[in-house]
Amino acid sequence: MKLLIKNGHIINEDESFQADILCEGGKITQISEHIDQQLLDCDFIDASGKYLLPGGIDPHVHFHLPTKAGFSSDDFLSGSKAALFGGTTSIIDFVTPKKGQKLPDALKERLIEAKDCRCNYSFHISPIEWRDSLKEEIRYCINKGYNTFKVYMAYKDSIGLDDSSLKKVMKVVAAEGGTITVHCEMGDKIDGLRNKFTAENKTGVEYHPLSRPNETESRAVKKALEFAKETSCPIYIVHVSTKESLRHIKQAKKLGQEVYAETCPQYLLLNDTKYKGDFYDTAKYVMSPPLRKEDDNLALWEALGDGTIDTIGTDHCPFSLSQKEYGIDDFRKIPNGAGGVEHRHKLLYTYGVLANKITINQFVALTSANAAKVFGMFPDKGIIKVGADADIIIWDPQPSSTILSNNHYSTCDLDIYDGFAVKGNADLSILGGELKKRP
Ligand code: URP
Ligand code: ZN
Repeated sequence: MKLLIKNGHIINEDESFQADILCEGGKITQISEHIDQQLLDCDFIDASGKYLLPGGIDPHVHFHLPTKAGFSSDDFLSGSKAALFGGTTSIIDFVTPKKGQKLPDALKERLIEAKDCRCNYSFHISPIEWRDSLKEEIRYCINKGYNTFKVYMAYKDSIGLDDSSLKKVMKVVAAEGGTITVHCEMGDKIDGLRNKFTAENKTGVEYHPLSRPNETESRAVKKALEFAKETSCPIYIVHVSTKESLRHIKQAKKLGQEVYAETCPQYLLLNDTKYKGDFYDTAKYVMSPPLRKEDDNLALWEALGDGTIDTIGTDHCPFSLSQKEYGIDDFRKIPNGAGGVEHRHKLLYTYGVLANKITINQFVALTSANAAKVFGMFPDKGIIKVGADADIIIWDPQPSSTILSNNHYSTCDLDIYDGFAVKGNADLSILGGELKKRP
């Protein structure tokens, strides 16, 4: 099966040029100024006036995540459709074992849950407790091609690690050649604040951000960086949301530490004013870390430009209104998370590229190329070049639209970007050389 894409404008992280692309056997086999369709028996797309982007890679999604309020709204089928039609051809989800469950067993279970995924997928694997056999378990996962391990410094009562276990896990991951990815929030401090507020009968949504102030993230970032340095473990910090965390990351990078950082569209585009209002206006913004202040938004935009932030993930983890209602009398019970996988490209293109905050090449670096490099997919993915996988987004820069919670591929009835005006659209998504049609 051959596919010829003609007259598009190819955008890579470090170059932009007009060319035709031939895809064959799932790969890009030719890129040149003019490829003659007459000489080939192939399908054909005219991409005049469109950008050709390397398929997006979202390194942080939670499809079908179990919580006390039920599973996150999108399973691997609906979530991957939302990803594909938004411009993302690869996602990285998570394997979170139950207490006492071995990582290889949890991985096998998760692979079954992910069988309906329509885009490329992989997993970060979460050691949620220390045990001596972890070295063998981590080695097994790495041999199977899963070499990133996600640990939580928050959620101490369920999946969070204490400091001593965290350091031990980092040591093993480093020794086995993996990378640690860390949710940086000081779990004990947060639990103390949450319980204090509830004891004072302060149970509304507004106490969610107040129980997770900036320093609960930045102090955790500082600590995680120190532990990673001590154990020589490459570290990737997920969903960075504060200006103070950025300072620690910038300093560590300057000193030559192998550290990568991710932020998410919600921390660039929304702030804590969203927590003002009644439960039904505010519960959809309950996520961890919480939305911050405008000066944090601004610092994050700057950090995209200066290389402190490497990737934009979405932390896609939507819950329906009825699920959020599980915490109507107690903010601690509101399931944490919101969706975004389908809007990442539109939001970044509109509020980043068109607002001159990032270049179109940085847009590609942040949504695809850098994640491909950090997570070992480069140069198969993250770039349009001969020999790479034919995962390509045909991006139409023209259409204007408004994001609406009742008009998205995600199955969730809530959308934190509801009402956002956006420009640009993933006209067509090509996955392994195959055109993915919108339902
Ligand atoms: O609020 C969030 N981020 N929910 C998803 C789980 C996590 O903490 O990443
Ligand atoms: Zn997450």
